[in-house]
Amino acid sequence: MVSLLSSEPKETEAIGKIFGQKIKKRKGQTILALIGPLGSGKTTFIKGLAKGLGIKKRILSPTFLIFKEFKLPGRKFYHFDCYRINSIKELKVIDFQKILQEKNSIIAIEWAEKILKFLPKKNLLIFKFKYQDEKIREIKILP
Ligand SMILES: Nc1ncnc2c1ncn2[C@@H]1O[C@H](COP(=O)(O)OP(=O)(O)OP(=O)(O)O)[C@@H](O)[C@H]1O
Ligand SMILES: [Mg+2]
Repeated sequence: MVSLLSSEPKETEAIGKIFGQKIKKRKGQTILALIGPLGSGKTTFIKGLAKGLGIKKRILSPTFLIFKEFKLPGRKFYHFDCYRINSIKELKVIDFQKILQEKNSIIAIEWAEKILKFLPKKNLLIFKFKYQDEKIREIKILP
C-alpha cells in the first residue's frame, strides 16, 4: 500500500498525471477504482490522469451522464461517476459488462465503492481519497 499526501488541487492533478503517463505505456486494460467522499479530489485526480494519457479535452464531472468516453490511439478511456447509481442493475442499460471486457481500455470510476464487488480483481487499482482538512487530501493506493 502506498499513501500520498496532497496539499493543493494542482498536486492531486500532478499525481493523477504521473499515473496517466505510466498507464499509457502499459498495454492492456487498467481499471482505476476511486473511492472517497464528496470533494475529496477524485475528479481533480482524473483531470491529471487524462492529461497524462494525452487527452486534450476538458474533464468535467460526469455525474449526470454516468460516464464519458474518450478516444485514444488504439484504445479508449472511460470516466465513470457512480454517485447516482443505487444498484448495479442501473449500469446494465449502458453495457457496463461489455466495457469491462474491452482488452485495452482504461476505465476510471468515481464512487467505485458502490460497485466494487462487481469489478474484476485483475487489472484493478484502488485509490482511496480522504479529506484531511480544507487543502490536505490523503490518497491511498491499493494493492
Ligand atoms: N489537495 C487537494 N486535492 C484536490 N482537491 C482539493 C485539494 N485541496 C482542496 N481541494 C478542493 O477540493 C475539491 C475537490 O473536488 P473534486 O471534484 O476533485 O472532488 P470529488 O472527489 O470528485 O467530488 P465528488 O464526489 O463530488 O465527485 C475542489 O473544490 C478542490 O479545489
Ligand atoms: Mg467528482
